[in-house]
Amino acid sequence: MRKVLLLNGSHKSGKSFTMIIAEQFVSGLLEFDPDTVIQTVDLIQKNINACTGCHTCWTTTPGECIFQDDMTELFHQYEEADIVIWATPLYHYGISSAMKKFMERTQPALLPFIDNEGGGTYGHPFRNPEKMNKKKHVLISTCGFPSTKNNYEGVEEQFNNLFGKDKWEKIICVEGELLGIHQLDNLTGPYLDLVKIAGKEYGENLSISPTVKEGLSKPFVETPTYLQTTNLSWGVDDTRMKDSDGGLIAWNYMKEVQTAFNPKVRPKMNAVLQIDFTDIKERYQFVIKDETCTLLRNDFARETAAISINLTTLERILEGKIDAAQSLLEKKYAVTGDMRVFNAFLDGLFGPVNLSADKKKRLVPISFKNTPYWFFLALCPWLFCFLFAEYSPLIGVVVPLMISGVLCSIKRGPDLVYFERATLLTFSLLGLAVVTFGSDYQGNTFAIIGYFALALIWAISTLKTIPLTADYTHYFNGRNALKNVLFLRTNRLLCYVWSLVFLAQAGITLWLNTTVLINFAAIIPILLSVPTFVFSLWFLKWYPTDAAKPK
Ligand SMILES: Cc1cc2nc3c(=O)[nH]c(=O)nc-3n(C[C@H](O)[C@H](O)[C@H](O)COP(=O)(O)O)c2cc1C
Repeated sequence: MRKVLLLNGSHKSGKSFTMIIAEQFVSGLLEFDPDTVIQTVDLIQKNINACTGCHTCWTTTPGECIFQDDMTELFHQYEEADIVIWATPLYHYGISSAMKKFMERTQPALLPFIDNEGGGTYGHPFRNPEKMNKKKHVLISTCGFPSTKNNYEGVEEQFNNLFGKDKWEKIICVEGELLGIHQLDNLTGPYLDLVKIAGKEYGENLSISPTVKEGLSKPFVETPTYLQTTNLSWGVDDTRMKDSDGGLIAWNYMKEVQTAFNPKVRPKMNAVLQIDFTDIKERYQFVIKDETCTLLRNDFARETAAISINLTTLERILEGKIDAAQSLLEKKYAVTGDMRVFNAFLDGLFGPVNLSADKKKRLVPISFKNTPYWFFLALCPWLFCFLFAEYSPLIGVVVPLMISGVLCSIKRGPDLVYFERATLLTFSLLGLAVVTFGSDYQGNTFAIIGYFALALIWAISTLKTIPLTADYTHYFNGRNALKNVLFLRTNRLLCYVWSLVFLAQAGITLWLNTTVLINFAAIIPILLSVPTFVFSLWFLKWYPTDAAKPK
């Protein structure tokens, strides 16, 4: 029959969060083996003197403490237990004082000699190694912070040194305070179910499986939400929010942003970016002019763009914890006015794109070769094809092949984008077709293939990280544009539209082939590009602005 000693180190007898978890764990142990004997001890209720370091237990009365208090019986229970569950809240990055007192009073279990345990670790050997070495230890702990990092290292090292590295199991529940909020039972309930599973597993294997461990190490909610909820739950004003002249901490924060912002990213920019904090109801403005940035907290100027955001969201964006554009799409904040000013602001804050070598390969540096002007050069081969393929495959296919070959060889390297590669490939294949099957085709065959090829190329580009038009239009949108999900989504939608337009052009050509206009069947559909081009210019501005608007 297995004996389990559950030591409750919480000082809140009765409503301890740690004990909620410990009891679930124990119920798992009992589910596995109902005969398990559980002895629960509320350490805070016990009369346990603090170890005075007299060392009588090592010298005069070996193995016996001079104090005759509740620890006398507890020490016996401790020695006899097969499993000891150390259930303690985290207090000041360590175990609770009640538990520490108990721990120190286990000194009689040790011999006075100091052993070198290797790896720079020293320790006292057990007086009764046979009993002590087979004893299993489980740490169960809750804490108030949302992470174990820089929080639990002390306790973990203590347990490693006492019981041997990785020879003990643990359940550490961060954001433990939430266990006391019944409205959150839907979050904490599944966690407690998992604790029970852990208990059952431990009963069976004396270990907890990695998947269950992983589940148990997860916080209940995201850190910012947790901080906001718990910080507000105290019902006490945060006096740190006030600065020396009675303003809010946001002012200091804005000053940091001002320092971090580099106005030189857009030398010609003349704009006023307004920040409206929705939570603390404060307004600030950055006036960006002549490569300088001034911060205003009153006497406001007319804004060019305005961001409505709460302080925590802005902090998280600037700390790089959440993506600015992604959060914008998720309506975590809103931007009105000129989106370019907003993009320039992000560019000025985050500077040039700093990506891993792998990601860099997929990104296109900004140079003239990636301007929309170059894009029109890249369209030339297609134009030639539609205008001349019907009359002469040599001009309609071979010349476009030459043009795209020349363009690609001028561009080369990382500047060369998907559209140019796809164009070269298409005309190479068409050239091969002419060489293989001859050049005698009826009814605008090459033009129809060309329209379909364009539709396919543009459709495929919507599946890529950087959709086709983004390769060229990011020139106007700053270095961070290719990381900006809103910019990428705008271009992706645009590429869908163009892909459909090319399909329509293919269809129109096919239809015109059956009419008297057959000689112009390849050229007439090109006219459809004009309104689509006008639409594109409008859409590139409208969509980001609309997506950034408040709900
Ligand atoms: C004196 C004291 C010190 C604390 N120190 C920490 C700490 O260092 N880190 C932490 O994350 N939580 C800390 N907390 C929060 C507790 O660990 C947390 O509220 C825990 O869930 C309480 O468990 P209990 O209900 O079982 O007593 C501290 C709480 C108190 C009262």
